[in-house]
Amino acid sequence: MQITLDSKPLNAIDTDALVTYLFEDGDATQGRIGELDQATAGLLAKLVKSGEVVGKTLEMTLIHAPAGLTAARLLLVGAGKSDAFNGATLRKLAGAALRYLKTRSVHSFTFAVRENGATEEAAQALVEGFITADFETDKYKTDKKNDKSIEKVSIAGFGDAEKATAEKGIARGRIIAEAQNFARDLVNEPSNKLTPRILAEKAEAMAKEAGLTVDLLDEKKIADLKMGALLSVAQGSVEPPRMIVITYSPANAKPGAPVVGLVGKAVTFDTGGISIKPADGMEKMKYDMAGGATMIGAMKALAALKPAVKVICVVPATENMPGGKAQKPGDIQTAMSGKTIEVLNTDAEGRLILADAVHYAKQLGATHLVDAATLTGAIVVALANINVGVFGNDQPWTDKLLASAKAAGEKMWQLPMDDEYREFIKGSFADIQNIGSGKGGGSITGAWFIREFAGDTPWIHLDIAGTAWNDDAKAWLAKGPTGVSLRTLVQLVTSL
Ligand code: BES
Ligand code: ZN
Ligand code: ZN
Repeated sequence: MQITLDSKPLNAIDTDALVTYLFEDGDATQGRIGELDQATAGLLAKLVKSGEVVGKTLEMTLIHAPAGLTAARLLLVGAGKSDAFNGATLRKLAGAALRYLKTRSVHSFTFAVRENGATEEAAQALVEGFITADFETDKYKTDKKNDKSIEKVSIAGFGDAEKATAEKGIARGRIIAEAQNFARDLVNEPSNKLTPRILAEKAEAMAKEAGLTVDLLDEKKIADLKMGALLSVAQGSVEPPRMIVITYSPANAKPGAPVVGLVGKAVTFDTGGISIKPADGMEKMKYDMAGGATMIGAMKALAALKPAVKVICVVPATENMPGGKAQKPGDIQTAMSGKTIEVLNTDAEGRLILADAVHYAKQLGATHLVDAATLTGAIVVALANINVGVFGNDQPWTDKLLASAKAAGEKMWQLPMDDEYREFIKGSFADIQNIGSGKGGGSITGAWFIREFAGDTPWIHLDIAGTAWNDDAKAWLAKGPTGVSLRTLVQLVTSL
């Protein structure tokens, strides 16, 4: 999809569809909407007056052959209340407009930002909205609707003086959104087409193309390093595990500056193991590698954005299967760190593989950690599919992440990690156990388990089990993988 700027007056823009947005509390005769209203001899004001157009968020009004405009169509998108409007709203409106027009076989359109809206952030948000909205999960459909595609988008409303600003936002938005779609594509792959070995190969191909260093640890190397927690999960499968390590090491990183470790859970399929999951909905467990995909995708974006910060990405990849050699409830395993773990439930496998990955990331030199994982069903109970669950052991580091989430327009909510919850995972027969003995707090005990391996290193855990997958299509995003938290992580690293 080509994305350019168009500096012509709105009424003279020659396009399949001219798109702009209007507020619930706005005045259709003022500003840029006013320009369109005048060009169309008061059409917009008339539509508002009649009550047909209200401006409610994502309300769509499509006008064909609008008299007075060169554009073949005018699409008005509702933007809600003006004081609640921000980059996140704009990103959604952009995406929703693209998907709305795409299903109507429109191939190009021009999106006009409103007065005062010509900022770098707005250009970035628009481009992110367009590119993530254009992603479809029809890769394995043989009757793809090839006639439904958007080839060209232009952005209007930026003056000549704002051109450089716009170009910067467009370039950054494209890098981030394409990385997000790369991650979503990995998540969309079914487990027969994405085993740990295939994920490792894909990560390696990306890293080589992006100029990143990559190290793939095979099952032998994993055993040599005594990663007993990862191996315990992998032993139930005929597919061998991989530990994927990707490093971005810029020459201009300051000595003594933070080295960020991005750790992502990649269980390419989670059956639950011997503590097997119910059949209903189990097919969704192909997305249990979304945390790993997010981190690999974030590295792709960082390689292009080139911040002066060293980043080490560590992704433990395995299947969780109930094979004849599978670990069994009650088994005791020794993690790479030397801690012993009583595996009371083999379905709490994400924390096991993250234990070794977090330890290894520290050993490789990470001073600040973030992990992302589809870790618990309990986070869906707590936050539904709206917010990512955030946990941390260092408030200043966590605050940086929360600020980045806000800037990136991703909803995240911090949960408590009081010491009392730590008691829930105290082991009876080993140092710790992999599920909580208390009632409730499932996401917190999961986080506490990982924290045991982060130790004193500033660390954040993102539980994306509720948010990494859209069960239903949204107006601005296809059904399926969302790529959630990638934008926040890129923002976090580039803001350091
Ligand atoms: N992969 C699941 C968590 C999950 C649940 C992801 C729903 C996406 C949607 C994880 O490995 C798991 O099974 N967790 C258990 C932990 C429990 C046994 C303590 C869970 O949440 O039930
Ligand atoms: Zn599980
Ligand atoms: Zn899992």
